Order: sequence, then C-alpha cells, then structure tokens
Amino acid sequence: MLISGSILSADFLNFERNIRELEPYADAWHVDVMDGHYVPNISFGPQFAAYLAKCSKLPVSVHLMVKEPEKFVSLVPKTVREVTFHQEATVAPVRFCAMLREMNFLPGISIGPGVHESSILEVLPFVHHVLFMSVEPGFGGQSFIEPVFEKIKRLVKLCPDRNFEIWVDGGVDMFWGEKLKEIGTDLVVMGSAFFKAKDPGEFGKLRG
Ligand code: DX5
Ligand code: ZN
Repeated sequence: MLISGSILSADFLNFERNIRELEPYADAWHVDVMDGHYVPNISFGPQFAAYLAKCSKLPVSVHLMVKEPEKFVSLVPKTVREVTFHQEATVAPVRFCAMLREMNFLPGISIGPGVHESSILEVLPFVHHVLFMSVEPGFGGQSFIEPVFEKIKRLVKLCPDRNFEIWVDGGVDMFWGEKLKEIGTDLVVMGSAFFKAKDPGEFGKLRG
C-alpha cells in the first residue's frame, strides 16, 4: 500500500522544508482543491501543485472538490499525474474521464461517505482509481466514518478482477491504515496523522 501525504495539513510557514523532510516517508503528494461551493471551505487552486514538483520528486495528485471540475482542469499543472473528481460535481463523468486522459492525467472518481457504491459502477471502466472519502469532504483532521470501511470491502468483493486502484482519503491513521491494507487498499491519503506524527517512520509498516 502507498501513502500519499495530504498537504492540506502541511506547515505552510515552512512548506518547502516540511515537504523535503517528509518526502522519505511518503510515496506521493495529494493536493486538495476546494471552491467554497462543492465544499464549505476554500483551500488553494490547482496551480499550487506546481510548487510540489519544484521541491519533491514524488508524484502529485490533485483532488478537485469543486463544482463543474471541467472548468478547473486547464489550470492543473502538467507535472500532476492523477486528477480526482466527484461524480456529483459533473454532469458527464465519462466524458470528463476521457478529457482528463487526453490531457495525460489519470482520472479518478471520488465517492462521498454517504453515497452508495452502486452509483459509480458505470464509470468504473473509465477510471484509474476510486477515491473513497472516509470523512465529509472539506476539512482535514476529522475522524474516519466507520461504515465506509464496509463499503470499500463490498466494492473490492464486487470487482475481483478490477483494473482500477482503490484509494481512501480522510481520517486515516495507523489503526485504519492497517485495516485498509488488509482488505487490499492500494493507496491511503494521510493528512493530519502524517504531517503531525512525532515519528512518520512508524507508517513504514503500512507501505509496500
Ligand atoms: C478532506 C480532504 C483530505 C484531507 C485528509 O476534504 O480531501 O485529503 O486533507 O486529511 P486527514 O487525513 O487529516 O483527514
Ligand atoms: Zn483529498
């Protein structure tokens, strides 16, 4: 399993130093873009992802928590590898996946904690990953919503030959990380647990 550090919890007063220090303990970086409409918070624009490419060699993904993600995609730096969007935020998720692939981004669909997995089944053939939100999107530092764990298990069971990755985002700590690894999660996004850890090396047992 891979760990993607959610930079929403980074030390912005010492951003570059913080990223360089923690780079050995992460496999990727996760940039949360919020528009104040789809979620009740505003973070940074997709352009922010370019700063990471300047101080880290790790792959970067952008998580678009915005309405009409089509309008933002031209702002995503070319250095970004994956772009994740929320199905409810677009009227044409399949077309948007194609648009992202044409732009050389790997498309991912995100599913909120209160949304049933059956609502994304038709889009699965077109995505690189499914990002299960295990908190309501909009803020870091929230607790993992337990029923999401069963939902992930259901989708994993439903798709034994899946050709998409399973990502989980929100409230992941060591406890949930171990459980998620056991059920075949490919990547966990970690914000507060990772950036505020006394010893980020402890998460080494979740990796690989
Ligand atoms: C929540 C974001 C998450 C968040 C994760 O809306 O999508 O990526 O930063 O942070 P933690 O791990 O603190 O829940
Ligand atoms: Zn996120």
